[in-house]
Amino acid sequence: MNESLHQKLEKVTVDQFQRDLIDWYEREKRDLPWRKSQDPYRVWVSEIMLQQTRVDTVIPYYQRFMEKFPTIEALANADEDDVLKAWEGLGYYSRARNLQAAVREVHESYNGVVPDNPKELGKLKGIGPYTKGAILSIAYNIPEPAVDGNVMRVLSRILSIWDDIAKPKTRKVFEEAVYYLISKEHPSSFNQALMELGAMVCTPTSPSCLLCPVREHCAAFSEGVQAELPVKTKAKANKKVQMAAVVLKKEDRYYIHKRPSKGLLANLWEFPNCETHPGIVTQKQQLAQFLQSEYKMDVQINELVGTIEHVFSHLTWHISVFVGVVIDDSNMEHLQSVTEQELENFAFPVSHQKIMQLAKEHQLG
Ligand code: ADE
Repeated sequence: MNESLHQKLEKVTVDQFQRDLIDWYEREKRDLPWRKSQDPYRVWVSEIMLQQTRVDTVIPYYQRFMEKFPTIEALANADEDDVLKAWEGLGYYSRARNLQAAVREVHESYNGVVPDNPKELGKLKGIGPYTKGAILSIAYNIPEPAVDGNVMRVLSRILSIWDDIAKPKTRKVFEEAVYYLISKEHPSSFNQALMELGAMVCTPTSPSCLLCPVREHCAAFSEGVQAELPVKTKAKANKKVQMAAVVLKKEDRYYIHKRPSKGLLANLWEFPNCETHPGIVTQKQQLAQFLQSEYKMDVQINELVGTIEHVFSHLTWHISVFVGVVIDDSNMEHLQSVTEQELENFAFPVSHQKIMQLAKEHQLG
């Protein structure tokens, strides 16, 4: 063990720390839908949804998802398109595709029982060290660390750890700390209490130290440095991408495209669009040429009805949105034409829901 971490840990009165933390959690914990059962499948789904997504956003998605796919078997046998539809708007859609792939493996290779050991669990698609520890501790009460950014923030303050939490190798430092600190009797409550403390008290900016149940154990509080922790270097600059999209209509039908099975927003549906480049060829012309060459569609692109900005973790789309009409679709490739009502059954990224919204508002005048 890293010597200085060891020294820091030795200063903690572990059993008192566990009691203060867990008693607070049992008193104050929020009534969240995934806390009603220890079913490993339900814990798994909740932990996947909660990655990169706020609790308030997740709650209605989680409830609908559980009604639609209440068991391993139900999700294993579902159509991927229906799973993506249930995930529509949550973002990071590979989470949904990986979850279903892993659930299918549990259904086929483990007789529908989520493995209760780190080795098998960690091999499943989309289950990284955090999710593995969360399932083992919350569903199976096994004392394994579940360290995400929130837990690193909390523990960086309690132990005054100054390693850069943006670096992948730093997570291991915190996992070591959790192995040392975790309650062997109540690992589920212990890990959830760390998460709850990070969400409710030990927040990124202006933590509520005066309300903190473990303030007396907190090295950062005693040194007055809680606002300086955690150390987190800035992510790379976000790249701007200029694009044009068109909502094409012929009589009562719209034209949509299924994105490739790999990469950003894989297998979601979209309105025809392309990246555009500044120059003498206008965005409209670039878009019309794209529709001709990629989809063999002869179209007339009409008004610009608005612009949309959508920020991903690594890039930002700036989309000019046009409406247009189809002149000739007799050689059409790779597009599907659907009625407005049928559109409801396809999963679109939020940016393309907004594109449709702009086109509708334009239509209504
Ligand atoms: N964030 C990650 N996992 C969580 C959980 N189980 N409860 C609340 N917030 C969380």
